Amino acid sequence: MADYEGRWKAVKVSVEAGIAWVTFNRPEKRNAMNPTLNAEMVQVLEALELDADAKVLVLTGAGDAWTAGMDLKEYFREVDAGPEILQEKIRRDASQWQWRLLRMYSKPTIAMVNGWCFGGGFSPLVACDLAIAADEATFGLSEINWGIPPGNLVSKAMADTVGHRKALHYIMTGDTFTGSEAAAMGLVNESVPRAQLREHTIALAAKLLEKNPVVLRAAKIGFKRSRELTWEQNEDYLYAKLDQAQLRDPEHGREQGLKQFLDDKSIKPGLQAYKRA
Ligand code: COA
Repeated sequence: MADYEGRWKAVKVSVEAGIAWVTFNRPEKRNAMNPTLNAEMVQVLEALELDADAKVLVLTGAGDAWTAGMDLKEYFREVDAGPEILQEKIRRDASQWQWRLLRMYSKPTIAMVNGWCFGGGFSPLVACDLAIAADEATFGLSEINWGIPPGNLVSKAMADTVGHRKALHYIMTGDTFTGSEAAAMGLVNESVPRAQLREHTIALAAKLLEKNPVVLRAAKIGFKRSRELTWEQNEDYLYAKLDQAQLRDPEHGREQGLKQFLDDKSIKPGLQAYKRA
């Protein structure tokens, strides 16, 4: 099993029982995402993708924050003071992990929002497949409060998850909202008391760990892409995805599922998953 102890500075990684715990680790700065954290997260996601022991990824934060968003000092002020071209690299690293890698990540991802979640944090939040928040967590699109419109893909993330009126309300007022409110508006799947957050996340991860990983990947990526395609394109694409999953699935889940239901009569797929060998 790979040992990630101390490999990165701004991110802590450990793999336990199939779950890769990826923890933003700048609690003294409320886990604000600085260029170091962004560059490290690219490496973390690439390393865990190839780690067979890491089957479900959970993204969380050390201390009382998930993340306070982009680091206003190191990501904005210090980069402004540097050469213009530096903006490109700094922005690319941020987008690379917060959106490109994470959104279509080859393994299931869960955002476990333990506390503060502001601004730029909404990109990785929505890029994760699923999200559970502490009831007590505080969310906010604080950009308007310090003089910018939401950056990176934050507005797109809101448009994809939350209704039009709610999205504009929070974008335009900077009002904060709780984990329970985030669940009610569909920004996260559910919220639970902070004391139960880890236990709930492990239970959700356990459900995903039971499923066929190749099929799970095709299912989540198929769904996400389908939002951007027309009906005609979707029909073609989603059938291609289905065929791809069948072709690449080493355990031939479809055949096992059909056999266990139709021949053995040992499962009812409406009620439970097929038994994996
Ligand atoms: N960028 C840079 N530094 C940040 C930061 C951010 N987004 N959020 C917090 N920090 C730093 C603070 O500057 C402070 O550093 P210092 O100890 O060197 O002075 C430290 O983290 C602790 O922050 P503090 O404000 O004292 O913590 P708090 O618990 O009282 O409040 C927040 C927490 C999240 C409400 C508050 O820090 C905040 O509003 N942060 C900015 C949120 C934001 O607008 N993010 C940008 C989104 S793009």
